[in-house]
Amino acid sequence: MITLEESIDVTRPPAETFRYVSDFRTTAEWDATAFRARKDTPGPIREGTEYLVDCSLPVGSVRIRYRVTALRPGEFIELVGNSRLFTVTDRITFTPRDDGGTHIDYVADFAYKGPLASLEGALREGMERMGRKALEGMRHALEDRPPPPVISSCNERADRMVLPGLALFSRLGYRRGRKRWEPLSADLSGRHAVITGASSGIGRAAALRLAELGASLTLVMRDAGKAEATVAALRAESGNEAIRAELADLALMADVDALVTRLKTSGEPIDILVNNAGALFNPRQETAEGLEASFALLLLSPYRLTRALLPLLEAGGGARVINVVSGGMYSRPLEVRKLVAREENYSGSVAYARCKRALMVTTEQWADAWAERGIVVNAMHPGWADTPGVESSLPGFHRLTRRILRSPEEGADTVVWLAAAPEAGEVSGLLFLDREPRTTHLLARTAAQETAEEREALREFLAAQEAAFPADVAKSAAAR
Ligand SMILES: NC(=O)c1ccc[n+]([C@@H]2O[C@H](COP(=O)([O-])OP(=O)(O)OC[C@H]3O[C@@H](n4cnc5c(N)ncnc54)[C@H](OP(=O)(O)O)[C@@H]3O)[C@@H](O)[C@H]2O)c1
Repeated sequence: MITLEESIDVTRPPAETFRYVSDFRTTAEWDATAFRARKDTPGPIREGTEYLVDCSLPVGSVRIRYRVTALRPGEFIELVGNSRLFTVTDRITFTPRDDGGTHIDYVADFAYKGPLASLEGALREGMERMGRKALEGMRHALEDRPPPPVISSCNERADRMVLPGLALFSRLGYRRGRKRWEPLSADLSGRHAVITGASSGIGRAAALRLAELGASLTLVMRDAGKAEATVAALRAESGNEAIRAELADLALMADVDALVTRLKTSGEPIDILVNNAGALFNPRQETAEGLEASFALLLLSPYRLTRALLPLLEAGGGARVINVVSGGMYSRPLEVRKLVAREENYSGSVAYARCKRALMVTTEQWADAWAERGIVVNAMHPGWADTPGVESSLPGFHRLTRRILRSPEEGADTVVWLAAAPEAGEVSGLLFLDREPRTTHLLARTAAQETAEEREALREFLAAQEAAFPADVAKSAAAR
């Protein structure tokens, strides 16, 4: 038996350090030998939870199946790991320090199997080195603040060449990107996130992860049955009870306004607002209020919602707004007069791309306008993710690309990172893919058309729409 014993001290409190370390998916962030880790049982972390951790060790590549065998939240966790080469028992103790930080003791008992058992003496030194490195990695993950994000030179080159840039929308981009990522050990306890379109796809995946990180969630959904099922499922999976639903059809401004009224009445400050709800409309549709549906849902709705929620965003101090746009916007310039799609030559994809382009520009404008209020506004696009929305609205694309699409969780990763990572709070007005700021134009022609005049025209147009569609008009239109 080889016993490794290491300790570290960190300034973060035991509840936070426990939340991060006890979720053994994080081993891939702090243990250099672990290159992949996933939870293999449903539900919150408890006795019986299992993880699969793939490690690259000097004796070969091994998959370790860990099982949580004892757990006292905030204090202690024991996991027993089994692999073809060894069994290991990890005991991790979290002790509060007088300064509010945590002293972490890590004891790991390794028992090698078969011929390796006789080599334990020779293996000891290397194992001790790995143990020290892993704990240093854990300290780094819990303590060090990464610098604000910048685009890597290889992705900048890929974007300039357009096609390689597009290839990174697939799951290849996610897998390549994650090799460079810093650990994400943020704890969102006490933070309130509002997420639109949380009943499926990217919104739902983001909601689950934010719940696991401890945030309280208000999920905006339009279907009562789906809302109830989503809240129940997310509570059961995350163990976080602070998840509630608000019903709103966000293509209807009356519903947006009613939602705002309810949120303001509750008075709870909003720390994170994710404008994620979206759909691609084919054929052209008009809402009950007489608005073209893409324009209503993808642009006017997040515009109206976010601006109306400003007091609650300001109240939180350091709020983050995350607008989910789309790589589809790269195909379209900003053309304000075409934002409300007409009947002739209607294409759902074009209408969608134009609105997402305009939401990107709005993101930049809000970032400037609200910097003094301490509100950070960024946009992200998820790449190509295999969600119910993509399958139903782009069946041909879905059939062709299914094998290279990201999972909803991979698509949602940058939403979660923008919401949670300390370094993501230091930048505003940028577009992200895979936790990196990316160009807002792949094509010179779309960039050339985005003149200062056109950007100003967008601001004026949206302000005029808001003025022309005041709350009472929204109500009466919805009632028609
Ligand atoms: N998946 C991708 O590859 C991809 C790529 C680029 C951008 N995006 C963007 O990512 C976001 C999420 O899309 P997704 O792929 O996750 O699609 P999804 O699975 O269809 O999810 C869309 C969500 O928006 C909700 N929603 C749609 N219309 C609504 C309305 N009128 N009022 C309230 N909620 C409404 C849906 O609710 P219901 O369940 O009731 O329909 C659902 O919760 C969208 O903004 C989309 O444009 C996705």
